[in-house]
Amino acid sequence: MRGTAGTELDLAWVREQFPSLKLQVNGHTAAFLDGPAGTQVPRQAIDAVQNYFVTMNANTYGAFATSHRNDQMVLATRAAMADFFNCASEEVVFGQNMTTITFALARAIGRELNPGEEIVVTTLDHDANVAPWRALEEKGVVIRQVDIREADCTLDLDDLKRKITSRTKLVAVGYASNMVGTINPVAEITKLAHAAGALMFIDAVHFAPHGAIDVRALDCDFLVCSPYKFFGPHMGTLFAKREHLQKFKPYKVRPATNVPPESWETGTQVQELIAGIGAAVDYLAELGHRCDPSAKNRREALLAAYRATHRHETDLLTRLLDGLQSIPGIRIFGITDPKKLHDRCSTVSFRLGDHHPAKIATFLGDRGIFTWDGNFYALNLSEQLGVEQHGGVLRVGLVHYNTAGEVDRLLAALREFAAM
Ligand SMILES: Cc1ncc(COP(=O)(O)O)c(C=O)c1O
Repeated sequence: MRGTAGTELDLAWVREQFPSLKLQVNGHTAAFLDGPAGTQVPRQAIDAVQNYFVTMNANTYGAFATSHRNDQMVLATRAAMADFFNCASEEVVFGQNMTTITFALARAIGRELNPGEEIVVTTLDHDANVAPWRALEEKGVVIRQVDIREADCTLDLDDLKRKITSRTKLVAVGYASNMVGTINPVAEITKLAHAAGALMFIDAVHFAPHGAIDVRALDCDFLVCSPYKFFGPHMGTLFAKREHLQKFKPYKVRPATNVPPESWETGTQVQELIAGIGAAVDYLAELGHRCDPSAKNRREALLAAYRATHRHETDLLTRLLDGLQSIPGIRIFGITDPKKLHDRCSTVSFRLGDHHPAKIATFLGDRGIFTWDGNFYALNLSEQLGVEQHGGVLRVGLVHYNTAGEVDRLLAALREFAAM
């Protein structure tokens, strides 16, 4: 991820938008370094959910005012997500979360596959981008898993090229690893998939809070991400090329529409949270307009926001990596070379001596510093790195509302823990 010129992030304004950042724990202001498991939510999104219940709480397509408002709101949020993905509104599907969406999509794609046809997955991915495809093994579909280079937790692209064959029908790769932060060359991998006649599915759940997504530039067939990881409510969203939403057949009830994208949205949606998604995208756009007042539309504002947040996150990441490396007994997984930081995002996992990560997370949690321990469902990776049997790793996730002061607090607490 390479930044370009633009104004600085107004961190004071950013933090003012997130009421939860003021929470106190045991006399400490909470430091939310748990973003990879779900980010905090700006008041714009909180207000939108409340406003939904007060002014438009109704099911879809009724002949009365609240239902009309609900329908308008869903259309507006689809347009917001279309700007977020850089696609058409009709290519945006809402769902419960990424995992549920991916299982549903895999089942629909699986209807068209024959025994012996192949799907490529990776060792780096969250299991939600592995298990739904592995479920198709029941139909005789063959799953090929791409290795990683353990030294820096990057994908082994030579192995990937070997595993994509003329039998490959779909390649499922994560945009960024939720455990070690590696950003994969998804545009290049999409070209490899397409050259073999395969579809490209990208899990952008972990990337979405860190970088702008451009499905047109990537030319991917499918891309999923979850708004609760980019400052919105607990839901999932899918981009799919229009032609695929038409061609593949979702499992659905008969009275529900056959017209995409709604044909893919099983049952009644969590409409109030859809309202929150639109507001979360608009929060990012507002941030972008503040960073670059010349941004002409929401898409340009989103790009400006990500340019500013990326610069800030890179500063925090550098501070964190430098500080961690000065603590005796630290083993960081993933890219640490300062010249290669553009190939990773600001999510850092490590072990400290033989200490169980859960013990460290509890020590930090008691001091108001929220981190995660475990495998974060990146099970293949945790096993490959040999940490699965030992409590996994401790993960620190930095997003744009985090501060240098929080990084310093974390480092001081880790030094205190290590000295005990
Ligand atoms: C990279 C990645 N993919 C997929 C998921 C699953 O997303 P969801 O919770 O929306 O099902 C997660 C959740 O942590 C994730 O980090």
